[in-house]
Amino acid sequence: MSRKLLLTHDNVPNLHTIDVYRSKGGYASVEKALKKMTPEEIVEEVKKSGLRGRGGAGFPTGMKWSFLAKPEGVPRYLVCNADESEPGTFKDRYLMERNPHLLIEGMITSSFALGANTSYIYIRGEYFYVSRILETAIAEAYAKGWLGKNILGTGYNLDLYVQVGAGAYICGEETALLESLEGKRGNPRIKPPFPAIAGLYGCPTVVNNVETIAAVVPIVNDGGDEYAKIGIGRSTGTKLISASGNINKPGVYEIEMGVPVEEFIFSDQYCGGIANGKRMKACVPGGSSVPILPDYLVCKTATGEDRLMTYESLSDGGFATGSMLGSGGFIVYDEHQCVVRNTWNFSRFYHHESCGQCSPCREGTGWMERVLHRLEKGMGNMNDIDLLVELAKKIEGNTICPLGDAAAWPVAAAIKHFRHEFEYHVLYPEKVKDSKHGHKEPIMPVKPAPVMA
Ligand SMILES: Cc1cc2nc3c(=O)[nH]c(=O)nc-3n(C[C@H](O)[C@H](O)[C@H](O)COP(=O)(O)O)c2cc1C
Repeated sequence: MSRKLLLTHDNVPNLHTIDVYRSKGGYASVEKALKKMTPEEIVEEVKKSGLRGRGGAGFPTGMKWSFLAKPEGVPRYLVCNADESEPGTFKDRYLMERNPHLLIEGMITSSFALGANTSYIYIRGEYFYVSRILETAIAEAYAKGWLGKNILGTGYNLDLYVQVGAGAYICGEETALLESLEGKRGNPRIKPPFPAIAGLYGCPTVVNNVETIAAVVPIVNDGGDEYAKIGIGRSTGTKLISASGNINKPGVYEIEMGVPVEEFIFSDQYCGGIANGKRMKACVPGGSSVPILPDYLVCKTATGEDRLMTYESLSDGGFATGSMLGSGGFIVYDEHQCVVRNTWNFSRFYHHESCGQCSPCREGTGWMERVLHRLEKGMGNMNDIDLLVELAKKIEGNTICPLGDAAAWPVAAAIKHFRHEFEYHVLYPEKVKDSKHGHKEPIMPVKPAPVMA
């Protein structure tokens, strides 16, 4: 059985209440941190753990924390990114709904480590009901003395607020989030300066994902070394994966880093295989913005190694033959799903969510969406396929924030691995009129022939 650190007590009734949470050992990390450790020691444990940001980029958390500027007399902030708007990703919601106190505990311990006395949880507008769950839990924590003034008599003060966003994906980008938190339109800022130097209200700020902050609890309780024993190489600890698509058991799973992708998809412990006895066609392993993998690259890398659920293995081969772990939004497609329609669907999302500051993203995402739409409807031509490749190239790397990349990569990867399916849409328009329900006949990836020496 895979070890669990975040979903340990997942099935305990009323875990969302402070009494039940406490009865399972909850808030122990706060006692340990505030009474027995210095902030520097906590940062050191987080560094030792090898924890990497669970919001998508995988940046080492301890290193990020150590970048935080500490000018005299200037407040510091910890902001939890609960915007979770990446299509295919729903792990943070699951955690917050079921175990809000784990996040609150992580916020207190992490805020203490960073020297923050005011912290925020910024949650997407669509999760309004989850914000209510968090607010109730925060009120309980204040009432029991885990938040507020002089926590546990240690002299440490912390106020924790929940801020609900207004339903914009771009507000998950950390600097857009900070703009929104300040009450402005959520446009990403030009970096540098990074939030660690000039973040919320121009003050030093750390922005971390929900799961990252929750992982600080077991790291402080058991020590960074124990955490680092789980996983493989630079992918340590456990990871929440939200699995969806044509699988028998969609849901949120906590895996130990390093589980083979094949085991994750096909074993009954996790996804339970492809639904309705069909074949797997493709997989998007890390949320809508990461490159799609054709069936023959999902469980094996291009060099024939087992593909593992780690940052390194999922990106093995770069974007030519790999993808990314990203935010852990794992979407599996069966043989009848239409890659062209799926790519159009993602593209429509990025066009809608582009903040419009940078022309390549504002104009390019809309252009890609329109071209994909006509291809999907069987009204495109062969030149459209190369036009999409060109558009993706023009957007990638040419925007203030990575939303442009997020819009370009899925299109580029889909054409790279499924060009024949785009061509099918041009050649057989009468067959693709309603690809919404998938293709009538399966269209599987075509594995390129090996290059002879
Ligand atoms: C367009 C866009 C949307 C993002 N959405 C989220 C999000 O919903 N949640 C999240 O944690 N990070 C999101 N990120 C990444 C954040 O900018 C940031 O890297 C992350 O919150 C840092 O936390 P971590 O180090 O704990 O991963 C997004 C980035 C971009 C470019």
